[in-house]
Amino acid sequence: MAMKILGALAVLLVLGGAAEAGERAVLPLDQGWRFSFGAANGAEAPAFDDHGWASVSLPHTWNHVGGTKEREPSYNHERGAGWYRLNFTPPADYAGKKLWLQFDGASIVTDVWLNGVKLGTHKGAFGRFRFDATAALKPGQANLLAVRTDNSSPEAANSPTAEIPPMSGDFFMFGGLYRKVSLIATDPVHLDMLDDGGPGIYARAKSIDGKEAAIEVAERIANDGAHPQAVTVKTAILDESGKEVAASSETLTVAAGQTAMASPNLSVARPHLWNGKADPYLYQVAVTVSSDQGAVLDEMRQPLGVRSYRIDPDKGFFLNGQHLGLHGVSRHQDRPGKGWAISDADQRQDMDIMLELGVNTLRLAHYQHDQTIYDLSDRAGLVVWAEIPLVDRTSPKGMADTPPGFQANAESQLRELIKQNYNHPSIFVWSIGNEVNLRALKPGEGEHAKPLLTDLNALAKRLDPSRLTTMADCCEPGQGVTNQEAEVLAGITDVFGYNRYQGWYYQTPQDLGPVLDLYHKLHGSVPISVSEYGAGGALSQHSDNALDGVVFPKGHFHPEEYESRLHEIWYRQLKARPYLWATWVWNMFDFTSDSRNEGDMLDTNDKGLVSFDRATRKDVFYYYQAQWSDKPVVHLNGRRYPDRAYEVNDVEVYSNAPAVRLSAGGKDLGEAKCADYLCVWRNVRLSPGETVLTASASFSGQPVSDSVTWRYSGQPGVIDMRAGSPAGVQLGAIRYGSDDFVSGGTAVDRHPQPSPENPYPAVPAVGEGDRAVLFETYREGKFSYAIPLAPGRYQVTLRFFEPNAETSAKQRLFDVTVDGVAKLKGVDPFAEAGGALKPVEKNFTAEAKKGGLNLDFMPTAGQAIVSAIEIQPAR
Ligand code: GCU
Repeated sequence: MAMKILGALAVLLVLGGAAEAGERAVLPLDQGWRFSFGAANGAEAPAFDDHGWASVSLPHTWNHVGGTKEREPSYNHERGAGWYRLNFTPPADYAGKKLWLQFDGASIVTDVWLNGVKLGTHKGAFGRFRFDATAALKPGQANLLAVRTDNSSPEAANSPTAEIPPMSGDFFMFGGLYRKVSLIATDPVHLDMLDDGGPGIYARAKSIDGKEAAIEVAERIANDGAHPQAVTVKTAILDESGKEVAASSETLTVAAGQTAMASPNLSVARPHLWNGKADPYLYQVAVTVSSDQGAVLDEMRQPLGVRSYRIDPDKGFFLNGQHLGLHGVSRHQDRPGKGWAISDADQRQDMDIMLELGVNTLRLAHYQHDQTIYDLSDRAGLVVWAEIPLVDRTSPKGMADTPPGFQANAESQLRELIKQNYNHPSIFVWSIGNEVNLRALKPGEGEHAKPLLTDLNALAKRLDPSRLTTMADCCEPGQGVTNQEAEVLAGITDVFGYNRYQGWYYQTPQDLGPVLDLYHKLHGSVPISVSEYGAGGALSQHSDNALDGVVFPKGHFHPEEYESRLHEIWYRQLKARPYLWATWVWNMFDFTSDSRNEGDMLDTNDKGLVSFDRATRKDVFYYYQAQWSDKPVVHLNGRRYPDRAYEVNDVEVYSNAPAVRLSAGGKDLGEAKCADYLCVWRNVRLSPGETVLTASASFSGQPVSDSVTWRYSGQPGVIDMRAGSPAGVQLGAIRYGSDDFVSGGTAVDRHPQPSPENPYPAVPAVGEGDRAVLFETYREGKFSYAIPLAPGRYQVTLRFFEPNAETSAKQRLFDVTVDGVAKLKGVDPFAEAGGALKPVEKNFTAEAKKGGLNLDFMPTAGQAIVSAIEIQPAR
């Protein structure tokens, strides 16, 4: 029976990776797996029949969520147990070696069996872990590795993840073996392999002055042999060319079954500093453990960046004594169709795009990422914020205080993060949590986050006194935050970050700066940063003037232009606040969030500067590239909105040239100065049909240009506009553009706030048929429209209604004037329509002068109001 199954499997893996003396041998175990989702009793047993299972290779996840406009057949958001089985034959010369199964990342609870023997369980979706496979493994023979990874929701009944952070979060917990798996063979005497998945070597620059850098290295040598072993531990520091610039050796005896520490101090003369993007210089620490016969037993290299830094609450971030303005992005590790099972090439592409943008800092949220991205950050010279996945809660749902099991796991994930990434010079701060006071929004449901946070902070300081600690806050009481009960967390960690969304989730974009000033004042001694700020932007959704309407954060209309506008308003405020030690855009890429149904995609957070598939850089990407990169940038906005609603449009260019020239249809429209990297041409008239817009500038004599083609298929002199709405609408033959050319008044959308549960909330219809959509929004107050029409006589139609069902006649009265001439006087929508929520249409003709047609809505009682404006040349 057994042999037949093995034959049938035909995926018998006879793998290379011979174990040279003293050298570690690494055997990748990424190919030839069998996979099945769901309960599979007995699947840990070698003889279990898995021929019906799927063939997969790693990295792998069974989940398929996010990045789609509708539910696709491949959609899979199942959370539960996924089983993997691998039949493999490691080299015979592994006999006598210590053998370790290493998992770089498996989600969430992972149980591992080798040849039916349980090796262990790992709790946590993001850290690397190893199990000693020596006793169970049969070198040179067929072995059966069985792994169960369980990403059940922590709220599921008897969930194995009930006490494993995160309890929740705005991202999907993909299941599976989503990072590499390998078998590592070492000598019985080796650098520690079971130190929270760490390398066993921890190096840091204890002090640096121009003349020398004092390097302290902590080394853990384990002896899994049966006898004490005398060893010589040589520690060398190699420069980039591999030349030894410092070295030391010490001998020690490691008792059988014990681990001993070596902690050499080395001095590097005239150290070449790791100096961020300017000069990300990397040394290597090379440790060799040899027997007293001189045989090399183990050796390993780790990166070493010699640098010092400090963060000042008023002046910000200083690297090697120099001020460095930190500006960057946050990034999640997922991709459409792959989830977290992304390749090294994907990681490299993400880094390339971030460097193309010009970031100098990166927040790797909200969990430990793959080693590759930290390595790439070391080499690129980025300043990294690294984080554990303590998100939204510090205890399981319904529990106020942190239970011991939860605390233990949070601490274990922190130890893994710090030990496994200790040697990355790019990492500057350890973050112990994100928005952990979010759930305090509901009075009485508040949790006591401080005890756990205080303990985690202390643990981080113990494990790594050379780095500062931080965390990100969502809800500290103050302006804009509804619940004043939330715990004030600033001050627990060395430095701090605020996730703030003024103008997206709450308040107005102009409130961001003042709110930060308040916190800066409140926590004078705590350096603060903006750990998140961002807005949704859908590639297929556009507005003629995004600031002139209501955009619901959880709604189905996220015009790309609104994302751009908000970032411009926010970033101007952030740049004006030197006390901020760093700022991170939320987010570099759109990403999966199964709690979302908004913008133009399902299960996706669209706050990226770049699309989820990495194919499209949104317009706002270039706003930041123009000021962060040294690349000459001339980017015409609006290429994904070619079919324009209006004949006349503002044309915008993001550029780091002082001025840019624009032509339309070959006609030179002159230069525009680029204020804050934005160059604008107001009211550019398109020719009927296609108009090629070309923007150009010269950078030290080098011309740089960009072109887009816009189309206007409407009639000259025709304007059909939805007042109060950032979105246009096609009603039969009439194409209404969004609210535009307006100043004053307030845009109102009558819909209740959409939510994932109710993404398309209804409103009582005003009027019949299609046209009712026009009355779902309105502009109210005292306001004016400067409609850019060619001089001439025009037929004007205004549509409005009384939205307030409780009101009566004469409560809302207004006049409409054109260039000061009254066209409508004492308009009373309630009286005209005979009640509220009934449409009123008003028509008049008017003259447009050189500057266009100026419509003024002047309230005489209450507020003026309009829902639609329709203009066409008078016949
Ligand atoms: C929060 C949170 C993120 C989330 C973001 C958003 O601040 O930290 O995880 O994705 O808001 O709402 O987009």
